[in-house]
Amino acid sequence: MRNFNENTITDAVLERLQSATDARVRQISEALVRHLHAFVREVRPTQKEWEYGIDFLTRTGHMCDDKRQEFILLSDTLGVSMLIDAINHSSMHGATESTVLGPFFVQDAPEIELGKDISNGIEGDPLFVTGSVSTVDGLPLSGAWVDVWHSDEDGNYDVQQLSEIGGLAMRARFRTDASGRFSFWSIKPAAYPIPHDGPVGEMLKAQGRHPWRPAHVHFMISAPGFEQLVTHIFVAGDQYLDSDVVFGVKDDLVREFVLRNPGEDADGRATNRKYYYLNYNFGLKRAGESSHSVESTKISRIPVAQT
Ligand code: BEZ
Ligand code: FE
Repeated sequence: MRNFNENTITDAVLERLQSATDARVRQISEALVRHLHAFVREVRPTQKEWEYGIDFLTRTGHMCDDKRQEFILLSDTLGVSMLIDAINHSSMHGATESTVLGPFFVQDAPEIELGKDISNGIEGDPLFVTGSVSTVDGLPLSGAWVDVWHSDEDGNYDVQQLSEIGGLAMRARFRTDASGRFSFWSIKPAAYPIPHDGPVGEMLKAQGRHPWRPAHVHFMISAPGFEQLVTHIFVAGDQYLDSDVVFGVKDDLVREFVLRNPGEDADGRATNRKYYYLNYNFGLKRAGESSHSVESTKISRIPVAQT
Protein backbone atom coordinates (compact mmCIF):
# COMPACT_ATOMS: atom_id res chain seq x y z
CA MET A 1 0.00 0.00 0.00
CA ARG A 2 1.44 3.34 -1.11
CA ASN A 3 0.47 6.78 -2.38
CA PHE A 4 -1.88 7.66 0.47
CA ASN A 5 -3.85 10.86 0.29
CA GLU A 6 -6.19 12.78 2.59
CA ASN A 7 -9.03 10.40 1.77
CA THR A 8 -7.19 7.09 2.11
CA ILE A 9 -4.63 7.57 4.91
CA THR A 10 -7.04 6.97 7.85
CA ASP A 11 -8.23 3.58 6.60
CA ALA A 12 -4.65 2.58 5.82
CA VAL A 13 -3.55 3.27 9.39
CA LEU A 14 -6.65 1.54 10.83
CA GLU A 15 -5.96 -1.53 8.73
CA ARG A 16 -2.38 -1.74 10.03
CA LEU A 17 -3.75 -1.84 13.62
CA GLN A 18 -5.58 -5.09 12.99
CA SER A 19 -2.45 -7.06 13.91
CA ALA A 20 -2.63 -5.85 17.53
CA THR A 21 -3.27 -9.00 19.58
CA ASP A 22 -4.71 -7.26 22.64
CA ALA A 23 -8.32 -6.27 21.85
CA ARG A 24 -8.27 -3.26 24.21
CA VAL A 25 -5.02 -1.97 22.66
CA ARG A 26 -6.63 -2.32 19.23
CA GLN A 27 -9.81 -0.54 20.35
CA ILE A 28 -7.90 2.36 21.93
CA SER A 29 -5.50 2.69 18.99
CA GLU A 30 -8.33 2.69 16.46
CA ALA A 31 -10.28 5.35 18.34
CA LEU A 32 -7.14 7.43 18.77
CA VAL A 33 -6.39 7.33 15.03
CA ARG A 34 -10.01 8.03 14.02
CA HIS A 35 -10.40 10.99 16.37
CA LEU A 36 -6.92 12.41 15.74
CA HIS A 37 -7.38 12.27 11.98
CA ALA A 38 -10.86 13.81 12.28
CA PHE A 39 -9.38 16.61 14.41
CA VAL A 40 -6.69 17.30 11.81
CA ARG A 41 -9.23 17.23 8.97
CA GLU A 42 -11.44 19.70 10.85
CA VAL A 43 -8.65 22.08 11.90
CA ARG A 44 -6.50 21.75 8.74
CA PRO A 45 -3.33 22.92 10.55
CA THR A 46 -0.62 24.71 8.61
CA GLN A 47 2.84 23.10 8.68
CA LYS A 48 3.88 25.87 11.13
CA GLU A 49 0.93 25.15 13.45
CA TRP A 50 1.78 21.44 13.43
CA GLU A 51 5.38 22.32 14.40
CA TYR A 52 4.04 24.54 17.21
CA GLY A 53 1.92 21.64 18.45
CA ILE A 54 4.92 19.30 18.47
CA ASP A 55 7.01 21.93 20.26
CA PHE A 56 4.20 22.53 22.82
CA LEU A 57 4.04 18.81 23.68
CA THR A 58 7.85 18.56 23.78
CA ARG A 59 8.04 21.48 26.24
CA THR A 60 5.21 19.95 28.29
CA GLY A 61 7.29 16.77 28.60
CA HIS A 62 10.47 18.66 29.45
CA MET A 63 8.61 20.48 32.25
CA CYS A 64 7.85 17.16 33.96
CA ASP A 65 10.09 15.85 36.72
CA ASP A 66 9.69 14.52 40.25
CA LYS A 67 8.32 17.91 41.35
CA ARG A 68 6.13 18.90 38.42
CA GLN A 69 3.66 17.00 36.22
CA GLU A 70 2.73 19.32 33.37
CA PHE A 71 0.85 16.60 31.43
CA ILE A 72 -1.55 16.12 34.35
CA LEU A 73 -2.10 19.88 34.48
CA LEU A 74 -2.85 19.74 30.76
CA SER A 75 -5.36 16.93 31.33
CA ASP A 76 -6.89 18.86 34.26
CA THR A 77 -7.25 22.17 32.41
CA LEU A 78 -8.72 20.55 29.29
CA GLY A 79 -11.39 18.91 31.44
CA VAL A 80 -10.09 15.40 30.68
CA SER A 81 -9.34 14.57 34.34
CA MET A 82 -12.93 15.42 35.34
CA LEU A 83 -14.28 13.46 32.35
CA ILE A 84 -12.28 10.41 33.49
CA ASP A 85 -13.61 11.02 37.00
CA ALA A 86 -17.22 11.22 35.74
CA ILE A 87 -16.83 7.97 33.76
CA ASN A 88 -15.28 6.09 36.66
CA HIS A 89 -17.25 7.51 39.60
CA SER A 90 -20.94 7.83 38.91
CA SER A 91 -23.17 9.66 41.40
CA MET A 92 -24.99 7.49 43.93
CA HIS A 93 -27.47 8.44 46.66
CA GLY A 94 -25.60 8.69 49.96
CA ALA A 95 -22.14 8.62 48.34
CA THR A 96 -19.95 11.72 48.39
CA GLU A 97 -19.07 13.05 44.95
CA SER A 98 -15.45 12.75 43.83
CA THR A 99 -13.26 15.31 42.11
CA VAL A 100 -9.68 15.70 40.84
CA LEU A 101 -6.78 14.56 43.00
CA GLY A 102 -4.48 17.41 41.95
CA PRO A 103 -0.70 17.33 42.08
CA PHE A 104 -0.13 18.18 45.75
CA PHE A 105 -0.97 14.85 47.38
CA VAL A 106 1.95 13.32 49.28
CA GLN A 107 2.15 9.63 50.14
CA ASP A 108 2.74 8.82 53.78
CA ALA A 109 1.82 12.18 55.25
CA PRO A 110 2.29 12.32 59.05
CA GLU A 111 -0.28 10.29 60.97
CA ILE A 112 -1.95 12.36 63.68
CA GLU A 113 -4.28 11.85 66.62
CA LEU A 114 -7.82 13.04 66.11
CA GLY A 115 -8.45 16.63 67.21
CA LYS A 116 -4.84 17.77 66.76
CA ASP A 117 -3.58 20.81 64.84
CA ILE A 118 -2.01 19.99 61.46
CA SER A 119 -0.98 23.55 60.50
CA ASN A 120 2.53 23.02 61.84
CA GLY A 121 2.76 26.68 62.86
CA ILE A 122 1.80 28.16 59.48
CA GLU A 123 0.06 31.56 59.90
CA GLY A 124 -3.63 31.81 59.12
CA ASP A 125 -7.19 31.99 60.42
CA PRO A 126 -7.83 28.94 62.63
CA LEU A 127 -10.08 26.28 61.12
CA PHE A 128 -11.72 23.42 62.99
CA VAL A 129 -12.93 20.53 60.86
CA THR A 130 -15.18 17.72 62.04
CA GLY A 131 -16.83 15.00 60.04
CA SER A 132 -17.75 11.40 59.68
CA VAL A 133 -17.26 8.52 57.26
CA SER A 134 -20.13 6.13 56.65
CA THR A 135 -21.56 3.70 54.12
CA VAL A 136 -24.12 5.03 51.62
CA ASP A 137 -26.82 3.78 54.02
CA GLY A 138 -25.36 5.81 56.86
CA LEU A 139 -23.60 3.04 58.81
CA PRO A 140 -20.50 4.54 60.47
CA LEU A 141 -17.13 3.29 59.23
CA SER A 142 -14.65 3.20 62.07
CA GLY A 143 -10.94 2.89 61.31
CA ALA A 144 -11.29 4.47 57.83
CA TRP A 145 -8.12 6.24 56.69
CA VAL A 146 -8.59 9.94 56.02
CA ASP A 147 -5.86 11.94 54.26
CA VAL A 148 -6.27 15.73 54.22
CA TRP A 149 -4.22 18.46 52.58
CA HIS A 150 -4.82 22.12 51.71
CA SER A 151 -3.19 25.44 50.90
CA ASP A 152 -2.28 28.26 53.30
CA GLU A 153 -3.88 31.71 53.44
CA ASP A 154 -1.78 32.78 50.42
CA GLY A 155 -2.86 29.77 48.38
CA ASN A 156 0.46 27.88 48.66
CA TYR A 157 0.84 24.23 49.58
CA ASP A 158 3.64 23.11 51.90
CA VAL A 159 5.41 21.29 49.04
CA GLN A 160 5.63 24.59 47.13
CA GLN A 161 7.55 26.23 49.99
CA LEU A 162 9.38 23.36 51.64
CA SER A 163 12.70 25.22 51.83
CA GLU A 164 11.07 28.20 53.58
CA ILE A 165 8.85 26.30 56.03
CA GLY A 166 11.20 23.36 56.57
CA GLY A 167 8.74 20.47 56.37
CA LEU A 168 5.24 19.24 55.64
CA ALA A 169 2.30 21.25 56.99
CA MET A 170 -1.46 21.52 56.49
CA ARG A 171 -1.60 17.83 55.67
CA ALA A 172 -2.03 14.67 57.70
CA ARG A 173 -3.63 11.28 57.78
CA PHE A 174 -5.71 9.84 60.57
CA ARG A 175 -8.27 7.15 61.28
CA THR A 176 -11.92 7.59 62.12
CA ASP A 177 -12.96 6.71 65.68
CA ALA A 178 -15.43 4.01 66.79
CA SER A 179 -18.35 6.15 65.57
CA GLY A 180 -16.70 6.83 62.23
CA ARG A 181 -15.93 10.41 63.22
CA PHE A 182 -12.82 12.57 62.82
CA SER A 183 -11.71 16.10 63.67
CA PHE A 184 -8.65 18.28 63.27
CA TRP A 185 -7.51 21.88 63.56
CA SER A 186 -5.72 23.74 60.80
CA ILE A 187 -5.92 27.11 59.04
CA LYS A 188 -8.43 28.34 56.46
CA PRO A 189 -7.19 27.72 52.90
CA ALA A 190 -7.32 30.33 50.15
CA ALA A 191 -7.97 30.23 46.41
CA TYR A 192 -4.83 29.80 44.31
CA PRO A 193 -3.63 29.76 40.71
CA ILE A 194 -2.41 26.38 39.48
CA PRO A 195 1.24 26.40 38.36
CA HIS A 196 1.08 28.49 35.17
CA ASP A 197 4.68 29.31 34.32
CA GLY A 198 4.89 26.52 31.70
CA PRO A 199 3.15 25.42 28.50
CA VAL A 200 -0.20 24.97 30.29
CA GLY A 201 -0.05 28.58 31.53
CA GLU A 202 0.80 29.66 27.97
CA MET A 203 -2.23 27.72 26.72
CA LEU A 204 -4.57 29.23 29.35
CA LYS A 205 -3.40 32.73 28.43
CA ALA A 206 -3.91 32.11 24.71
CA GLN A 207 -7.39 30.74 25.49
CA GLY A 208 -8.24 33.84 27.54
CA ARG A 209 -8.61 31.83 30.76
CA HIS A 210 -7.49 32.50 34.32
CA PRO A 211 -5.49 29.84 36.23
CA TRP A 212 -7.42 29.97 39.55
CA ARG A 213 -8.99 27.29 41.70
CA PRO A 214 -11.52 28.15 44.44
CA ALA A 215 -10.36 27.59 48.04
CA HIS A 216 -10.77 23.97 49.18
CA VAL A 217 -9.60 21.22 51.52
CA HIS A 218 -8.62 17.92 49.88
CA PHE A 219 -9.76 14.58 51.30
CA MET A 220 -8.76 11.05 50.31
CA ILE A 221 -10.70 8.43 52.25
CA SER A 222 -10.29 4.67 52.17
CA ALA A 223 -11.67 1.69 54.02
CA PRO A 224 -11.31 -2.01 53.20
CA GLY A 225 -14.15 -3.19 50.96
CA PHE A 226 -15.06 0.36 49.91
CA GLU A 227 -14.18 2.48 46.91
CA GLN A 228 -11.49 5.00 47.65
CA LEU A 229 -12.94 8.52 47.70
CA VAL A 230 -10.84 11.39 46.32
CA THR A 231 -12.56 14.71 46.78
CA HIS A 232 -12.39 18.26 48.13
CA ILE A 233 -14.70 20.47 50.16
CA PHE A 234 -14.88 23.95 48.67
CA VAL A 235 -15.38 27.17 50.65
CA ALA A 236 -18.85 28.59 49.91
CA GLY A 237 -18.81 32.11 48.50
CA ASP A 238 -15.43 31.76 46.78
CA GLN A 239 -15.27 33.91 43.65
CA TYR A 240 -13.89 31.06 41.51
CA LEU A 241 -16.55 28.41 42.25
CA ASP A 242 -18.10 28.90 38.80
CA SER A 243 -14.85 29.18 36.87
CA ASP A 244 -12.53 26.61 38.48
CA VAL A 245 -9.69 26.18 35.97
CA VAL A 246 -9.88 22.38 36.31
CA PHE A 247 -13.72 22.10 36.33
CA GLY A 248 -13.66 20.28 39.68
CA VAL A 249 -16.54 21.96 41.57
CA LYS A 250 -19.74 20.06 42.37
CA ASP A 251 -22.57 21.68 44.35
CA ASP A 252 -22.61 18.96 47.01
CA LEU A 253 -18.96 19.64 47.76
CA VAL A 254 -19.45 23.35 48.58
CA ARG A 255 -19.89 24.18 52.27
CA GLU A 256 -20.01 27.24 54.46
CA PHE A 257 -16.86 27.60 56.58
CA VAL A 258 -18.70 29.23 59.48
CA LEU A 259 -16.92 31.95 61.48
CA ARG A 260 -17.38 31.25 65.19
CA ASN A 261 -16.67 33.38 68.22
CA PRO A 262 -13.95 32.62 70.78
CA GLY A 263 -14.95 30.34 73.62
CA GLU A 264 -17.24 28.06 71.68
CA ASP A 265 -14.89 25.44 70.22
CA ALA A 266 -17.05 22.80 68.57
CA ASP A 267 -15.06 20.17 70.47
CA GLY A 268 -16.00 21.65 73.84
CA ARG A 269 -12.58 23.24 74.46
CA ALA A 270 -11.91 26.90 75.18
CA THR A 271 -10.50 29.04 72.38
CA ASN A 272 -9.50 32.67 72.64
CA ARG A 273 -9.61 33.39 68.89
CA LYS A 274 -12.35 33.48 66.32
CA TYR A 275 -12.17 30.40 64.16
CA TYR A 276 -13.82 28.89 61.11
CA TYR A 277 -15.77 25.69 61.46
CA LEU A 278 -16.53 23.05 58.83
CA ASN A 279 -18.42 19.79 59.26
CA TYR A 280 -18.81 17.26 56.46
CA ASN A 281 -20.20 13.75 56.51
CA PHE A 282 -18.67 11.54 53.82
CA GLY A 283 -20.39 8.49 52.30
CA LEU A 284 -18.34 5.70 50.69
CA LYS A 285 -19.58 3.30 48.01
CA ARG A 286 -18.93 -0.38 48.46
CA ALA A 287 -16.17 -1.63 46.14
CA GLY A 288 -17.65 -2.61 42.78
CA GLU A 289 -20.64 -0.25 43.02
CA SER A 290 -19.18 2.09 40.34
CA SER A 291 -18.52 1.00 36.75
CA HIS A 292 -14.74 0.86 37.29
CA SER A 293 -14.13 1.02 41.00
CA VAL A 294 -10.82 1.55 42.75
CA GLU A 295 -10.72 -0.24 46.06
CA SER A 296 -8.49 1.64 48.46
CA THR A 297 -5.45 1.68 46.21
CA LYS A 298 -2.85 4.22 47.10
CA ILE A 299 -2.61 6.82 44.38
CA SER A 300 0.76 8.42 44.06
CA ARG A 301 1.19 11.92 42.76
CA ILE A 302 4.24 14.06 42.71
CA PRO A 303 4.47 17.42 44.41
CA VAL A 304 4.66 20.42 42.11
CA ALA A 305 7.39 23.02 42.43
CA GLN A 306 6.51 26.57 43.40
CA THR A 307 5.69 28.81 40.43
C1 BEZ B 1 -5.27 20.98 43.40
O1 BEZ B 1 -6.40 21.13 43.80
O2 BEZ B 1 -4.40 20.82 44.24
C2 BEZ B 1 -4.99 21.01 41.92
C3 BEZ B 1 -5.81 20.30 41.07
C4 BEZ B 1 -5.54 20.32 39.70
C5 BEZ B 1 -4.46 21.05 39.22
C6 BEZ B 1 -3.65 21.76 40.09
C7 BEZ B 1 -3.92 21.74 41.45
FE1 FE C 1 -5.82 21.91 45.79
